[in-house]
Amino acid sequence: MKIEAPEYIRSIVPYPPGKPMDELEREYGVKNPIKLASNENAWGSSPKAIAAIRDALGNLNRYPDGSNFYLVQAIAGKFGFSPDEVVVGNGSDDIIECLVKAFVQPGDEVITSHPSFLMYQKVVQVRGGVNTILPLKGMRHNLDAILSHITDKTRLIFLDNPNNPTATAIKPTDLYNFLSSVPESVLVVLDEAYVDFMDLEQQVDIYSLVHNSKDRCGVVALRTFSKAYGLAGLRVGFGLMGSQVAEMLHRVRQPFNVNQLAQVAALAALEDTEFYQQTLDKTRQGMVWLQNEVEKLGCRRYLSQTNFFLVDVKGDATALYEAMLHKGVIIRSMKAYGYTNVIRITVGTEEENHRCITALAECLTELSYVA
Ligand SMILES: Cc1ncc(COP(=O)(O)O)c(C=O)c1O
Repeated sequence: MKIEAPEYIRSIVPYPPGKPMDELEREYGVKNPIKLASNENAWGSSPKAIAAIRDALGNLNRYPDGSNFYLVQAIAGKFGFSPDEVVVGNGSDDIIECLVKAFVQPGDEVITSHPSFLMYQKVVQVRGGVNTILPLKGMRHNLDAILSHITDKTRLIFLDNPNNPTATAIKPTDLYNFLSSVPESVLVVLDEAYVDFMDLEQQVDIYSLVHNSKDRCGVVALRTFSKAYGLAGLRVGFGLMGSQVAEMLHRVRQPFNVNQLAQVAALAALEDTEFYQQTLDKTRQGMVWLQNEVEKLGCRRYLSQTNFFLVDVKGDATALYEAMLHKGVIIRSMKAYGYTNVIRITVGTEEENHRCITALAECLTELSYVA
């Protein structure tokens, strides 16, 4: 075989998939491991979504509705947008990919922060685009640096707000000022995967940001059903944007990009305000408890606007991650992101949080990290 992928594809580092839980049990000899590593919903999925999936199982021989008609209508209604301003995708990952496909040609530039959600840089590279990657400042997006790196070739700016992995949010006034300085030829993508967990006063008015874009950049907001709505396994996300932008995404998206079960489940989850509210309440309670407990253990915790938070464990984060794994608790080491002593913990159920703290206490002692 002589075929060879271009250099910009060969140099991509594949996303490291996590191990299936069964494998982990076998490899590490642990019972019932818990995963507090992927910022998922610890309380499962909306019972209404599960019932909707059961009802739809008889139609799997049919292709899904390629227009996502009912889901788009429901999202538009809930957020006050018109249906032609909503694009639904196979996770918000899919919308990120469509944005890059639609607006970035080889050689065009896209600005992202480091660390931030890794998917942005990857899809830009797949497209042959040029990543302009700017370090966070004090664990926050450095908006001044981003402004000063905009060139004639800049097409997109990705801002995850709150940021993953630091859980920090941009101050609304800073964001409004920033947007007013971004040229019209650039699209700013505000990835709001964790918006549901944010304090209300930190949230921005997406409707006005998308609609009042005269003389400045356009704005796209990304949302997901993977976090507060508890449907990560089904892959559904959506974007709210001007209809001209949406029209371009419809040209590049796959015709059946959201499967049938995902469509009915997301629709039901959107209407299940009880499950949604319980998730937010329990996440807040769990966050307060976990943050107190890690401080009691002598670690430093960082404030969070999401369902996860960073902890400075005052010793090598990857060694701690490995030690926790042996106790059946999966968290994330932030060492690869440049935070040598920092781990990321997702809020779990009450029982999971207790197991996490017990394991953390043991590991800190075993590794002699804190006095
Ligand atoms: C900031 C951010 N954006 C997007 C996503 C992806 O969401 P989805 O599951 O909808 O593809 C994640 C997932 O962790 C994320 O952290």
